[in-house]
Amino acid sequence: MATAKHSVLLCFFLLCFSLLHFIPVIAQKKPVFACDVSSNPGLKNYRFCDPSFDVTTRVNDLVSRLTLQEKIGWLASGSSAVSRLGIPFYEWWSEALHGVSKTGPGTKFSDPIPGATSFPQVILTAATFNESMFETIGKVVSTEARAMYNVGLAGLTFWSPNVNIFRDPRWGRGQETPGEDPLLSSKYGAAYVRGLQQRDDKDRLKVAACCKHYTAYDVDNWKGIQRYTFDAKVSKQDLDDTFQPPFKSCVLDGNVASVMCSYNQVNGKPTCGDPDLLTGVIRGEWKLDGYIVSDCDSVEVMFDSQHYTKTREESVALAVNSGLDLNCGSFVRDNAQAAVSRGLLNETVINRAISNNFATMMRLGFFDGNPSKQLYGNLGQKDVCTPANQELAREVARQGIVLLKNTKGSLPLSPTAIKSLAVIGPNANATNTMIGNYEGIPCKYTTPLQGLTVSVPTVYQSGCADVKCGSAQVDAAKKIAAAADAVVLVMGSDQSIEAEGLDRVDITLPGQQQLLVTEVAKVSKGPLILVIMSGGGMDVQFAKDNPKVSSILWVGFPGQAGGAAIGDVIFGNYNPSGRLPMTWYPQSYVEKVNMTDMNMRPNSATGYPGRSYRFYKGPTVYPFGHGLSYSKFSHKLVRAPRLVSVPLEEGHVCRSSTCRSVDAVEHSCKNLAFNIHLSVTNVGKLSGSHTIFLYSSPPQVHDAPQKHLLGFQKLLLTPHEEGLVRFNVDVCKHLSVVDEEGNRKVALGEHVLHVGSLTHSLNVRI
Ligand SMILES: *[C@@H]1O[C@H](CO)[C@@H](O)[C@H](O)[C@H]1NC(C)=O
Ligand SMILES: *[C@@H]1O[C@H](CO)[C@@H](O)[C@H](O)[C@H]1NC(C)=O
Ligand SMILES: *[C@@H]1O[C@H](CO)[C@@H](O)[C@H](O)[C@H]1NC(C)=O
Ligand SMILES: *[C@@H]1O[C@H](CO)[C@@H](O)[C@H](O)[C@H]1NC(C)=O
Repeated sequence: MATAKHSVLLCFFLLCFSLLHFIPVIAQKKPVFACDVSSNPGLKNYRFCDPSFDVTTRVNDLVSRLTLQEKIGWLASGSSAVSRLGIPFYEWWSEALHGVSKTGPGTKFSDPIPGATSFPQVILTAATFNESMFETIGKVVSTEARAMYNVGLAGLTFWSPNVNIFRDPRWGRGQETPGEDPLLSSKYGAAYVRGLQQRDDKDRLKVAACCKHYTAYDVDNWKGIQRYTFDAKVSKQDLDDTFQPPFKSCVLDGNVASVMCSYNQVNGKPTCGDPDLLTGVIRGEWKLDGYIVSDCDSVEVMFDSQHYTKTREESVALAVNSGLDLNCGSFVRDNAQAAVSRGLLNETVINRAISNNFATMMRLGFFDGNPSKQLYGNLGQKDVCTPANQELAREVARQGIVLLKNTKGSLPLSPTAIKSLAVIGPNANATNTMIGNYEGIPCKYTTPLQGLTVSVPTVYQSGCADVKCGSAQVDAAKKIAAAADAVVLVMGSDQSIEAEGLDRVDITLPGQQQLLVTEVAKVSKGPLILVIMSGGGMDVQFAKDNPKVSSILWVGFPGQAGGAAIGDVIFGNYNPSGRLPMTWYPQSYVEKVNMTDMNMRPNSATGYPGRSYRFYKGPTVYPFGHGLSYSKFSHKLVRAPRLVSVPLEEGHVCRSSTCRSVDAVEHSCKNLAFNIHLSVTNVGKLSGSHTIFLYSSPPQVHDAPQKHLLGFQKLLLTPHEEGLVRFNVDVCKHLSVVDEEGNRKVALGEHVLHVGSLTHSLNVRI
């Protein structure tokens, strides 16, 4: 969504919407809906108001009744009322990234629902590696969203989740994403969408989700390079095996109702004006059942920032003809009539666009009359911020928190042995920092200081005026640290360091934070726990190497109950089980690598090191998947095949022994799957959850990744308990690689499967 550069535009939206929309909503405290037959009985005669007809029939009926001007009104995110047909103004822009958000004019927090449950920022939720929980969170969020709709405070269409790959640690919006791995991002996106939408067997939706920002969008504003004009140069291979999979999974596995195209260009073309990316892939290959929406206002950006088209009308025509259905903003609406008059755009195409928009609204029940009498009509204030929902927010945070370092005897702290705890740092008493961006108004906050004070007496010093920490107040911090039995330092960033429209340049702790930690460590006499609150990874090598820093925790932006969860982990009420969903690079990495270099693969000719655990071989501060427990777990391979044969199609070119890969095409892939059985034992003294990562290192053809994740499963085990896990491996899906042309191929030869330190060699042949 727009910030800095488009602030004028955004302000214009807000003003405009607040005048036209906000006031009536507040006054009514009623949801907006069409086909209100109780106030206008004549509407009963329209097919589009009759839920007994199928969606296509209803949409066709509605479209056939509209004038061109009325149709154009439904290309804008603030869609115009058609009063003569009982259709009110509808605001499409609501957000629910990790709880109902206050971003966007479609949602307002006020009486009777002044707050909603604020879950951890997505990057920490991803760190739980608990797939069923991704869906559970989505369900809770859509319950609260639908409750807010029912009292006139929110819409039905939510532009979440963000499934872009967290390609570079500097990206200010990496916090919103599920991390750097395409498999995790795909599973997260599909599960969260399923939870939000709760699509039923009649194809009805609880709310409509939207996967964004399509595609290869992950530069906001780095050294003056802006997302509005950035041209991402992406190879076919990287596009298909890194950037596209989460979107594909959103549509195919999650049945998402919408995809949002981004601001940036990909290989010289703006994504919202690329017919191959929109009509070709999303609508054609993936068969999206729903609408394609632009970012705010990426159609205008094509004209006035990118100068990609000569006129406004050409931009509008290009986008809508390419497959865009809805425009966040008013640019398309304002210029569509002129585009039609000039013969750049025709009514058939506009009919397609609004039909996709109306079909989505029909599936949401918007055209079914008064929602209070329908599915979800009973949801209301009583369903928001419930104790169970708030407890889930705390549970997600504690499951996501990652224990990066733990010297023997440090954590967990004993609440009876610690008589005084020094709590220090600019995030030690954080409130809104904990909920990151695309935040709502939370039900309440528990700050880290509050979460720790529940267990032991604490003394507090912020140590820095803010996270930028221009000059650390070292003496005051040292004084309380020296007098305490243990020290917790809560450091890191907030939205002044990493945010939408703000990428980092350095990935060390901001300002004098490192100095503060090092000085406090010198005088502490017991355990010293460094807590990093941030979206992206931080180079904390100094702390990793410092024996006086006895433990390090990464807590993401942990949501409204973050402080309670931090307390749970530090005092051992919860055994940490989070794992890093992204590589933590050293500062030297960002000094060497341009953020704008989209290549995932290393290049030995230029010395470019590549990106993510799949391709990067250089030093890390902490690797992808890292995370300790208070317990220990051992793995044993129970059963796995040593050989898999891929049947070839008649006439396949690959008959000779020199063939190194075969097409992963439907025919030869059918039923080509096997199981891997593992046993996992908790060999420690505490109950705990443990994530099993199954990786494969494919044969080195087609510049394949050094390893990639095939699957993950999380198990809760009591001491000495043994658990069995089974991974079903689909050869074409999981063992394939993407070749230079973007085609999926099964590499022939030895695939090495890894689980922890276990390896197993699997021969794939024809
Ligand atoms: C409308 O425009 C589309 C896209 O340019 C074109 O394929 C189609 O033939 C046009 N239809 C009519 C009826 O002019
Ligand atoms: C910590 O933050 C809470 C919530 O904003 C506030 O009520 C409390 O006074 C703060 N504590 C200290 C010691 O500043
Ligand atoms: C980084 O980008 C700048 C500006 O585009 C370019 O001049 C420079 O050569 C690039 N450096 C590397 C290491 O690619
Ligand atoms: C996954 O999360 C759910 C809560 O949604 C929790 O009950 C379950 O124990 C978690 N699984 C593991 C293995 O920790």
